[in-house]
Amino acid sequence: MCGIVGYSGPGNSVGPILEGLTRLEYRGYDSAGICLKLNGQLEIIKKEGKLDNLKSLISEKHPFSNIGIGHTRWATHGGVTTDNAHPHGNELFAVVHNGIIENASSLKKELISEGYVFKSQTDSEVFLVLLTKYFKQTGQTLQSISKAFNTISGNSAFVIMEKSTDKLYCLKRSAPLVVGENDETREAYVSSDPFALVGYAPKLYFPQDGVICESTVLATHVQVKFFELDLTPSNRYKTQGNVMTMDSTTKGPYEHFMLKEIHEQPGLIDKLSAFYLKGEGRSVLNGLSGFQSPMWHLTACGTAWHAGLMIRNYFEQINRQRASVEIASEFRYKQPILNKEEVGLFISQSGETADTLACQELCQEQKIKTFSIVNVEGSTLFRNADKNFLIHAGVEIGVASTKAFTLQVLTGYLMSQAMKGNLDDPKLFSEIQLLSHRIAEICAHSDGVLKEVAEKIYAQKGFIFTGRGKYFPIALEGALKLKEIAYVHAEGYAAGELKHGPIALIDENIVNIAIVGPELLEKTISNVEEVKARRGIIVMIGPKDLTEYEELADFYIGLNFEGLPNLSPLYVNVVLQFLAYHIAKLKGTDIDKPRNLAKSVTVE
Ligand code: AGP
Repeated sequence: MCGIVGYSGPGNSVGPILEGLTRLEYRGYDSAGICLKLNGQLEIIKKEGKLDNLKSLISEKHPFSNIGIGHTRWATHGGVTTDNAHPHGNELFAVVHNGIIENASSLKKELISEGYVFKSQTDSEVFLVLLTKYFKQTGQTLQSISKAFNTISGNSAFVIMEKSTDKLYCLKRSAPLVVGENDETREAYVSSDPFALVGYAPKLYFPQDGVICESTVLATHVQVKFFELDLTPSNRYKTQGNVMTMDSTTKGPYEHFMLKEIHEQPGLIDKLSAFYLKGEGRSVLNGLSGFQSPMWHLTACGTAWHAGLMIRNYFEQINRQRASVEIASEFRYKQPILNKEEVGLFISQSGETADTLACQELCQEQKIKTFSIVNVEGSTLFRNADKNFLIHAGVEIGVASTKAFTLQVLTGYLMSQAMKGNLDDPKLFSEIQLLSHRIAEICAHSDGVLKEVAEKIYAQKGFIFTGRGKYFPIALEGALKLKEIAYVHAEGYAAGELKHGPIALIDENIVNIAIVGPELLEKTISNVEEVKARRGIIVMIGPKDLTEYEELADFYIGLNFEGLPNLSPLYVNVVLQFLAYHIAKLKGTDIDKPRNLAKSVTVE
């Protein structure tokens, strides 16, 4: 979603800001802008559409400015227009904003009745106008920021620059924000994502909610100060080194990041199992040995929710512990029954998904333990959890999550094995090794049969993915992947559920991607027969050498399920990732940045 990058220092702010915004492009946006200080004035350059539009406007001017703030906007309040793009500014201040000001419309009415004029339809401009109003009353920037922030409601992050100084100010409520510092080069940074600051700011600060951060570049060093909203000094922030690397920013030999990330899976599976079984992560898992919770509350969104469905199966079947999985946007408003000793487990790649964070907050308010399965170390979810289980997937750039899903599920599986006290069972290690080996085989041949199948089916009207038991979450995930990147209608169903409604959709233009594992084989085959009888096109993914059933399918993708009693769904899922990828490519969509989607959904 929206991205923020700010800079103050002796150099030209334009370079690091545009580079940072480019790195955040993958998160999804529809307009971009920058505010620079030119000839002592705040000058805003912004444009709807891709960042390249902004870059060409800037390159016409060759500006040099020691301070600047930049933004990529994903529209919420107000259409996709240049006026609504950020920054919003006036003769005193410029502001960029991520999030939503919930009471914006009533505040705007009041401000208009007081004579203030608005240039955009955004909620963000309300903050600028409030800040300006209070500054005119007090002449104090910090005080005005605090007052404006106290007046608004909702979850937001703001970065502010002012005409009168080269200071960067920022603050937030339940939205990502990181302050960066490079003391050697005397440069101060701020961003909504540490990824934007890799290679620029070795030291990072994470202010907590309601803490104002003021960065000033002095003659000898960068001074970073933190204040509470009553303007007393604050120590509510965390400091850490920037541990991210730049490796993930290039596609290497691959045409798309998504393809690269699918191919990374075998190597990452090996690394994750080495980390948790034999490396540093072992002590984290050892802490779970014998652990029992009367109830696990798993919450997540999208693909991470599908990972939750898989992990619930492990907790229930391997550990015989109760677990519920809820979509975070539902859980947060359902007044969940939460009891002492229970655990909230939040699954998220970004660790910044607004709904998932709200569930974490809710569990914390109810004083139950919060665990996370998360990719981004230092993210809000990570920082606020009692215990974190990192998935070590590296940066995932493709909006369609692939490697993160695999590693989320694997991490949940390892947690389950840890609770069972099974971490030293050689069968566990060899099953994971086998998974990585089998996925590597699929990757090596993905341009063969999977591409051919995609060529045969990509133009069809709709796709129904079916699976039973442990393959049901994979049916949901396969359908989500396809609809996200190929823009075709796709649904996932429990195979046995077809006849209760969705079978009405089946005709010769509908493809059934039927996942037929060795478990409950005959029952799942009879569901395929039902589709066949209604002339549906059948792509069956099943055990190889199952000749008696191969004829039932229009296209049969045979896999070796042996030796993967618990992990075979992850193996099948890679086939679905490739199918979605090839279909999307044939349709010519924007695979890494599909329309309307954002990588990190930081608003409700
Ligand atoms: C996955 O392909 C999606 N783009 C989306 O469903 C994603 O999984 C969801 O928004 C949750 O994100 P998170 O893992 O960063 O919390």
